[in-house]
Amino acid sequence: MAEVDATSRGSWNTKLGFVLAAAGSAVGLGNIWKFPNVVADNGGAAFILIYIICCFLIGFPVMIAELTIGRRTRKNPVGAFKALSRNKLFALIGAWGIICGVMILAFYNVVAGWTLSFILEEITYSLGFTHAAAFFANLKHGPENALFSILFMGATVSIIMGGISNGIEKATKTMMPILLGILIVMIGYVFTQNGSTEGLQHYLIPDFSKINAKLVFAAMGQAFFSLSLGMGAMITYGSYLNKKQNIPEAASYVVLFDFAVAFLAGLLIIPALFVAQAHGIQIYQKGSLVSSVGLVFQVLPTLFHSMSHWVSLIFGTTFFILLSMAALTSTISLLEVPVSYAIDEHGIPRKKAALLIAGGILVISIFISFDISWIDILASVFNNVGLPLGGLLICLFLGYFWKTENALLEMKEGYENVENSFFGKLWPIFVKYICPILIGIVFFQALEQLF
Ligand code: PHE
Repeated sequence: MAEVDATSRGSWNTKLGFVLAAAGSAVGLGNIWKFPNVVADNGGAAFILIYIICCFLIGFPVMIAELTIGRRTRKNPVGAFKALSRNKLFALIGAWGIICGVMILAFYNVVAGWTLSFILEEITYSLGFTHAAAFFANLKHGPENALFSILFMGATVSIIMGGISNGIEKATKTMMPILLGILIVMIGYVFTQNGSTEGLQHYLIPDFSKINAKLVFAAMGQAFFSLSLGMGAMITYGSYLNKKQNIPEAASYVVLFDFAVAFLAGLLIIPALFVAQAHGIQIYQKGSLVSSVGLVFQVLPTLFHSMSHWVSLIFGTTFFILLSMAALTSTISLLEVPVSYAIDEHGIPRKKAALLIAGGILVISIFISFDISWIDILASVFNNVGLPLGGLLICLFLGYFWKTENALLEMKEGYENVENSFFGKLWPIFVKYICPILIGIVFFQALEQLF
């Protein structure tokens, strides 16, 4: 079994442990906070259709590419590109990934902090302390945002300091199944409420006239964000994979699981919006569904508060506990990327690296805490543009410099006959042509619409 000390490179203990850790990275606020919000912003079911295409035709091949690069090199994103080519310029792809990861973690940590403050909001509200509840529900209160960001970063750092199998793997293994269970119970509850069928129709019946360049661009950014792709998180997690594991199989579980959780979250939140409407809350603005960084945080408590006190206490608090757990398994992976870089490339011990880097990112989080409009700005640059750009560069690097034959050779360990399989014939075509072309077209279309 892999024992982890402060500096050695750890590894995942079991296959399930890896799949759950990678799924834990993928499943997070992206699925439960952001996905329903972009769905609402882009007209419902039509978005989901394009999102499915982005996840399976672009996300899945890119995830395999990242995991394979990681396992082959056993390195952080910068070290990985350095190891695979003599041209040091390629390390810039890894560096770009680390920058995106750091900036994403900076805003992600603030939203993750909200999940903690809403646990307290739900408890205080149910116990009748409405003033305290209103205090915890205020998303625009800087000092409070900063405090919860600090708490959340503290939780992330403490797990990262524990290393791979003892820290990350153990934490995610217990959290993920609970998360799924609570989500399903909540959906069951929402469907007993008035208004939910209208929400279901909105969520599942596509209006194809809504599909345009903006929607496709949003779907692609969302797919990269939700699957933790384009910034080297999967290169890093792949670097802790052992040679017995079948990479494409593991990746398929992660993509399916991530999509399933996003789909379920939408199935909870879009109908919940319509239930809220049945309770007199305004959910449309200028003819489209309200959507904002605060959507989940504003609409859901209203729904919870409409229930009797005890039911509200149980559902409201478990929901936000669930959300904070999902966020934690993702912040862990976001922080692990720069930490593994500091360990591998600069020889800094794990604990020290974790504390230093988390401290630096926290400074940015605290700044964002006082002006949350930065969340949208940073997300549009580092998430919507940064991650697909990273994905594009990873595909081009793998397809034309490291070469797909070498990647297939690496995949052979754990998937013996890969080069003769249907997958082995198709995947190189995706990495070399289909993914870069699709990402390129979406970028081009979006740019054209912008100017
Ligand atoms: N995938 C995570 C989520 O959906 C966010 C994330 C992005 C994590 C990039 C790691 C890397 O919440």
